[in-house]
Formats: sequence, structure tokens, C-alpha cells
Amino acid sequence: MDKKYPTILFCFVLLQINLPAQTKQLPAASAKGLTTDMDGNSINAHGAGILKYNNTYYLFGEIKKGKTWLVANQSWEDYRVPAGGISCYSSKDLITWKNEGIAMKSLTGNASNEIDTGRVIERPKVIYNGRTKKFVMWMHINKNDYSLSHAGVAISDKPAGPYTYLESVAPNEQMSRDMTLFKDEDGKAYLIYASENNMTMQICLLNDDYLSPTKNYIRILENQHREAPALFKQNGKYFLITSLCSGWDPNPATYAVANSMMGTWTQKENPCVGSGAETTFNSQSTFVLPIDEKKGQYIFMADKWNKFDLQKSDYLWLPLNITNGQIEIKEN
Ligand code: GAL
Repeated sequence: MDKKYPTILFCFVLLQINLPAQTKQLPAASAKGLTTDMDGNSINAHGAGILKYNNTYYLFGEIKKGKTWLVANQSWEDYRVPAGGISCYSSKDLITWKNEGIAMKSLTGNASNEIDTGRVIERPKVIYNGRTKKFVMWMHINKNDYSLSHAGVAISDKPAGPYTYLESVAPNEQMSRDMTLFKDEDGKAYLIYASENNMTMQICLLNDDYLSPTKNYIRILENQHREAPALFKQNGKYFLITSLCSGWDPNPATYAVANSMMGTWTQKENPCVGSGAETTFNSQSTFVLPIDEKKGQYIFMADKWNKFDLQKSDYLWLPLNITNGQIEIKEN
């Protein structure tokens, strides 16, 4: 896919917003994105998501390590780096991160294995199942030519893992690429994924154990070519931020709103404002973390991909505010 949007230079700006005490320093930290863990090592957690459990934040992301290569005979810039499995970091304050090690290992030497390093293991998201007392991870599983397009599931007894990979599925025989997970207040959980060759998103209710899709699914944002979903809720309304599909290159985000997960989703404009809004500030969405739902304060988490050297990809965290039902993401 061709690069359609110019890259911009990212200016480091201290942000001033009114966040609760525990995240007082976060705006400054978030302007740089995630940087180093408490040992001083760079955080390796791309396409990340966060699980909050027992007052601790667990960050899960793709481990990108090694030389980037271009997959042959693709119609788009299919740059890949060895899929190093899924990392986990924990934090009480979203600033100091402890490396919890590899939450889910990838395997080497057998390209037919679904979690081989030569394949695609992306966008891990974890939720907790209160009934089964298990932590459940879903992720994008693919062959490096994107001919599989499945959602993979793994399970653990502990939040930081280790997670045991179970299998991958095509939910209701539908393709599943970029994805996220959402657990609602009533305990129901949903898989949200780019489907139909990335033309349409789908939302599928998971079974009660969160380990498999039900037959209950809807098609949303039809023919809109969206990916990188990040879903959250405020005051009974559901919000879904997505990017356009342009491979590793940034593009304008949009968001959609619904009154219920399986209801009608209405597409809105770009939630980003100010300089850089047309490239989502040179980034692509991965997750939205609630900070204070009542006040409409969230953190927008995104990736700044470096397609020629994917292990050098960076992160961007920005405050996301909802005012009168409208999302706003600003750099300053
Ligand atoms: C992007 C996607 C990333 C990664 C990349 C591969 O569109 O959002 O997660 O899969 O494509 O080119």
C-alpha cells in the first residue's frame, strides 16, 4: 500500500490536563510514549493493550526484535520482523514499568506453526474472566503473506502469564486481522476485528469462557477500510477509534459511536485536533485506557511504526477527552 500521507516531525510537548493524582505526571510521560522499564531497558511492547487487575496495570505487546525484511510478491509493503512473542510489563502508576518477562513465547524453526517467529503475532489484548478465574489473551495470527487471517487465543492463571496458546479461529468463518477485545460491565466480552479483506469491521460476542466466538456477530463500518481498532465506553456509550488501512504508514483516525455493542455504529470525524491530526500525530491507534470515566478522561495509546526497522518503532500516548459525547485527542 502506497504511502499517502507525509510524515511530520514530532515535537515533544509537555501536556497540561487535569488527571487524577495517580497519573499526575502522566501527561509529560505520555508525550514521549512508553520509553524504558525500571531497569533502564527500552520497552518492547508494540500494538499493545492494558489489563487493570488488582490495582496494577499489565501492559501486553508484540516483541519486535531482529532484522526487518520485505515479504516477496506482495502488492503492498509487507515489512516484517521476527515475531518475538508477547511481552508483559506491570506498573502501579503508568510511569514506572517492571518487565514481567515474556507472557507468551513464540516458537522457532517450524514455519507451519501458528506462533512461529516467521509469522504474524500482533495486537495482543488481555481480559480477566471472573467465572473461570482465567486471564484470556486474544491476538492477530497470520501467515506473513496474510493468507490466514485468524484470531488466536491463549490462557493463563496469572495476569502476567505465562500464557498457553490454544488455537486460532476464523470467527464464523470470517477473516480476522487487526483486532481488539472489550469486556463490558455485564461481563460479556467481544472480539472486534478488521474482516472481509479489511473492508469491513466485525464485532463478535465471545462465549462465557471468552475462549471462542459465538454465532452472534455484526458487520460495522462497511466498506470503509478501517483497522487498528481501540474500543472503550463512557456513560453507557461505546466509542471505537480506528485507522484507515495504509500498512505501516500513518493516516487520519476516525471514531464511531454506538448505544450498544451490537447496535448501530455511527461513523464520526477524526478525533485528533491540531497540527499532525491528519496523520494521527504520525501514529496508529492500539488501545484506549480509561483514567476517569465520569470526567471523560482516557489515554489514547498508539504506535509510531518504523517500517524499515520495525524493532525501532516507537509509541505515543496522549490524553483523550470526551466532552458532550465528542472525542478530542490533542498533542498540546
Ligand atoms: C498495519 C496493522 C499493523 C500491522 C501492519 C503490517 O496495517 O495495523 O498492526 O499488521 O499493518 O503491515
